[in-house]
Amino acid sequence: MTSCSDAEFREIEALVEVLSSSCRANREIIDEVLAKEDSHLFVARNQEGRIVGMTTVCCFTIPTGRHATIEDVVVLPECQGTGLGRKLVQAALDYLAGTGQSYKVGLTSKPARVAANALYRKMGFMQKETNVYVKSVEQTKLV
Ligand SMILES: CC(C)(COP(=O)(O)OP(=O)(O)OC[C@H]1O[C@@H](n2cnc3c(N)ncnc32)[C@H](O)[C@@H]1OP(=O)(O)O)[C@@H](O)C(=O)NCCC(=O)NCCS
Repeated sequence: MTSCSDAEFREIEALVEVLSSSCRANREIIDEVLAKEDSHLFVARNQEGRIVGMTTVCCFTIPTGRHATIEDVVVLPECQGTGLGRKLVQAALDYLAGTGQSYKVGLTSKPARVAANALYRKMGFMQKETNVYVKSVEQTKLV
């Protein structure tokens, strides 16, 4: 997906709510995702063209090689269990394979996300023993 109408933004907003009750979609951020060359938003649509699922793949290159992460895989509750989650992850993997480069692809999921963990294992992702750390960095205020 490379551009987003207001209606599509509202559909993405609904999916973000499914992902996290504490997160709200932000138009500026979605536009940034769509504009950036190293992040790619994939969507699943129903027969009416409405967005009912999405995932984002982010690519980065570091001294150990080319890496990609698959982030925020989500399908509307009423459409779950119909194969869309698998298709979204596969679309992200197919995109990477089609770039002509090799990538180490990673993703994370809380243990409580039973469906997601089952999906990733079934798709061949191997669990890695590591600690995940997060920290927010706020913008420096210019005076
Ligand atoms: C995780 C999620 C994206 C999966 O999407 P989905 O469209 O329901 O999944 P699919 O129908 O493609 O199922 C794919 C596989 O996952 C497994 N799976 C799906 N739902 C499952 C469930 N409730 N329990 C156990 N396994 C499940 C199935 O075994 C299935 O394998 P199969 O194709 O061999 O039958 C979806 O459940 C979701 O949006 N969950 C809420 C948000 C979330 O947790 N996102 C992950 C963030 S890391």
